[in-house]
Amino acid sequence: MKPNELKYGDVDRLIIDNVEEGEYLVNRAVFTDEQVFELEMKYIFERNWVFVGLDSELANPNDYFTTFVGRQPVIVMRDANGELAAFINSCPHKGARVGHHRKGNTKQFVCSYHGWTFNTAGECIYIKDQDSGGYAEPFNQLDHGLYKIKFGTYRGFMFASLTDDVPTLEEHLGEAMPLLDLIWDQGPDGVEEIPGRSTYTYDANWKMQLENCIDGYHLTSCHPSFMNVVSRRKAGESDNQQVKSIDFNMLGQVEGGTACMPRGHAVIYSPNAAEHERGLFLHKDELVERCGEAKTKWMLATRNLTIYPNVQFAENASLQMRIIRPISVDKTEMTIVCIGAKGESDAARLIRIRQYEDFFNTSGLATPDDTIAYEDCQFGYQGKELAWSQGYSRGISNVKSSADELTDEIGFDPETSSYGKMTDWDESVFYGGYRAWKKFIKDGLAVDGKD
Ligand code: FES
Ligand SMILES: [Fe+2]
Repeated sequence: MKPNELKYGDVDRLIIDNVEEGEYLVNRAVFTDEQVFELEMKYIFERNWVFVGLDSELANPNDYFTTFVGRQPVIVMRDANGELAAFINSCPHKGARVGHHRKGNTKQFVCSYHGWTFNTAGECIYIKDQDSGGYAEPFNQLDHGLYKIKFGTYRGFMFASLTDDVPTLEEHLGEAMPLLDLIWDQGPDGVEEIPGRSTYTYDANWKMQLENCIDGYHLTSCHPSFMNVVSRRKAGESDNQQVKSIDFNMLGQVEGGTACMPRGHAVIYSPNAAEHERGLFLHKDELVERCGEAKTKWMLATRNLTIYPNVQFAENASLQMRIIRPISVDKTEMTIVCIGAKGESDAARLIRIRQYEDFFNTSGLATPDDTIAYEDCQFGYQGKELAWSQGYSRGISNVKSSADELTDEIGFDPETSSYGKMTDWDESVFYGGYRAWKKFIKDGLAVDGKD
């Protein structure tokens, strides 16, 4: 099938999901078709839980930040009494945005157009010249406050949904919760954003990023400069003795796994032979005492986690949080930030930041490699005669529908999993995301009577 044969809602034909027969193909229309993008925004981003941030961004009463859920502008706030909530960032009067800054602290928002004023609980507390307005009863009956949307937190991870018609946040996260615990529990009071977040765009589809975080196969071919730099440091050819967060010499010997969870979440993981180089390792004794041996081992391990559809936690060369915002079918905004345990020692924080800068930061050795690869793919997709991508076949013979010993050890029970040598570079880890992709879109179309 060629992409130009796509009919509205014809999502089934875009993914050939025939694992029993060893076949899995993805049609490139999922990365290029405007109609597909429209369906994704409507049914995956605007009728689903979407990650909005860590609660460390709203530490104090009257803290707020502005963001997006799908394509819709949102403001997330902690009110004067400490309650968190999310609202559409639009004045009910005539629509002007009320929050102009990325983040801040204020007792009230005064709309700069006609002066209506809102407190941080979203209530309208002032309508300019209301008494002389000649308003009638229907107007008085309206709620003049900011439009509140569904909001939830798991530990300190904050999510919002534009519709109430979603499962509970716990149901949405499901088996991903113990994996989020491995992040949150790195400090006795959780984790926080370390100042210095970056935002950038790349000219390719949002799912390129979604896949890449759990795509181990690209590591050795896409990031040779980083691997060479780290190897030379290990060999003593550099004065930089601080940043050796991964032992690439051990890659062929390390075993690891991949796992897919319902609703699109996925993870790849392996023990980290260089765990003693990590900032977190300085707090190992405290971690073992508080969380136990097994959990500590997996906190120090390499884990790249996707919480579908828009946030990833990459724990390998430091701990990075990535928030994905699709802008159009071929443009994506990324917000990336280093996160770390609240209250960790200066020494641990220093190592964490240096490792983050080295690999992850926009100026680090990995991010430019990856974004250029996404843009090269999007460029290649202009070759529409070649409709199907083959990059979903590695490991198809090894997929299991049960947990393995290591997933048992950290207490989560995925929908499917795969386990073997890290250098098997499994690609079956993408299946869960595409199954959720299909389900979200088809369920949404059915509810709208368009199936
Ligand atoms: S648009 Fe906000 S007061 Fe008019
Ligand atoms: Fe990469």
